[in-house]
Amino acid sequence: MTTWNLQGTQCHLLICNGSSCKKHRGKEVAEAIEKEIEKQDAGSFFHTTMTACNGRCSDACVVIAYPEGVWYRGITPKLGKVLVRKALKGKRLKENMVYKFDKELKASSERGMRGKKKR
Ligand code: FES
Repeated sequence: MTTWNLQGTQCHLLICNGSSCKKHRGKEVAEAIEKEIEKQDAGSFFHTTMTACNGRCSDACVVIAYPEGVWYRGITPKLGKVLVRKALKGKRLKENMVYKFDKELKASSERGMRGKKKR
């Protein structure tokens, strides 16, 4: 068990490792992200959490970045590394964005409008 002092964290990456994302290399994505964070010596900038299903299985592998509230789809290990480098520069992986939080989640692409309607 670990208890981190998370003060100063600027980006929290939630890396989905539910069953669909695992099938789409979710564990490798998490490892690639962790390696890139280490390579960039950015451990105090990022915090990462592997999660259960985030409810967007057709977008596997899903990675969510807070505080921006950006949901990314189709993240591969290679894209995970790019995501880390972009986040350090305050940039986003625009091509893979599905949602962005702006008081509520709003679709960033047509893909974000697909799926079952929640009640
Ligand atoms: S398993 Fe990742 S969104 Fe469902």
